[in-house]
Amino acid sequence: MSINIPRGTQDILPGTIEKWQYIEQVAKELCEQYQYKEIRTPMFEHTELFERGVGDTTDIVQKEMYSFQDRGERSLTLRPEGTAGVVRSFVQHKMFGQANQPVKLYYNGPMFRYERPQAGRYRQFVQFGVEAIGSDDPSIDAEVISLAMELYKRLGLKELKLVLNSLGDTESRIAHKEALIAHFKPRINEFCSDCQTRLTKNPLRILDCKKDRDHELIANAPSLADYLNEESSAYFKKLQHYLSLMGIDYELDPNLVRGLDYYNHTAFEIMSSSEGFGAITTLCGGGRYNGLSEDLGGPSAPGIGFALSIERLLSALEAEKIELPITQSLDCYFVAMGDEAKDKVVQLTYQARQQGLRADMDTLNRKMKAQFKTADRLQAKYVAVLGDNELTEGSIVVKNMNEGTQESIKIEKLMAYLKQV
Ligand code: HAM
Repeated sequence: MSINIPRGTQDILPGTIEKWQYIEQVAKELCEQYQYKEIRTPMFEHTELFERGVGDTTDIVQKEMYSFQDRGERSLTLRPEGTAGVVRSFVQHKMFGQANQPVKLYYNGPMFRYERPQAGRYRQFVQFGVEAIGSDDPSIDAEVISLAMELYKRLGLKELKLVLNSLGDTESRIAHKEALIAHFKPRINEFCSDCQTRLTKNPLRILDCKKDRDHELIANAPSLADYLNEESSAYFKKLQHYLSLMGIDYELDPNLVRGLDYYNHTAFEIMSSSEGFGAITTLCGGGRYNGLSEDLGGPSAPGIGFALSIERLLSALEAEKIELPITQSLDCYFVAMGDEAKDKVVQLTYQARQQGLRADMDTLNRKMKAQFKTADRLQAKYVAVLGDNELTEGSIVVKNMNEGTQESIKIEKLMAYLKQV
């Protein structure tokens, strides 16, 4: 019996991987322009990191983590997201002491969540994300949001919607939390058991509940916007001001709460508004997490970031029918006729590759016609043909496949010729 891939995971095969590489390259260049440096943290961490960081009342921690005991009986978890690990690393390596502040980091790697697989939702998916830690100025919030928008724009996406909300500071959140408890408490028995636990621990999560989302009390729940104190409102206004200066359009949504506990002040999501896009329209999510460093045992270090999955980005490109400019052509395919010619072609192909050219040759000892077919399939720009006649003359025939022309060139001049054309 053959063994298949686990549910919710996928193989990315040649033919598709080029799109991933292209996107990753564009993201890398963008981060360099914005001065974000790459960080790679482990794919598993101590389970406690996510319990404390992401929050133990969130769906992610309660239902979606791949946790296991290792042989030393430690509880470890495959990372469900990147922020907790990055902030852990920031604290552990005392990056708060570095001369350059804020510390601006990006990452690109697999995350794991035990979710119900469907279009756009995987159990292993790749997040590209950035985190800027050490500034609580709204201009960095605007910078982070602009980076996400710019990435989508560079890849050609147009049908995007940026949605913003402010979750306020601790004081605003406490006031709002009390209002929520008072609102839901009298009828909490009409809600699911998760929501009943959430009521005292984290009533904001009730607004996010997938089971109870149609309950009338959710629609008319006290809005956080009415509980923002002056400072939080001023922060949010300033962020909007900066976004307007950059010409970035946004919509305000007081119900945007996000599914992770570490957020305060800015919360945002970027959605696809393309008609061809599936049910899950969120492409990117992020926000500010001013207390996370302290929650993880570090000093006060306000941060903001976002993450987006490459899987959903690819779906958005497909929905908007965008073809990425991927070129895969071969510089030269070598065709050999006869054993002696093959010896020479082995050598020439190797030399061409050493010269930095994209070169290939037949390794199945096929007839000349079949070798030409392969050259065509590989979109070779030039085909260099070597047979007995050419060998005696010390020359090789080079065909320009785009123009249909050909010329005979001395073998020792071939590399220079190929490099020049
Ligand atoms: P998140 O909203 O949980 O936030 O995930 C961010 C993005 O990851 C989503 O918008 C989506 O593109 C992608 N994503 C999440 N789950 C899946 C899945 N099962 N399959 C495919 N794609 C998925 C975070 O993870 C935060 N760490 C973002 C952040 C960074 N906040 C501040 N800094």
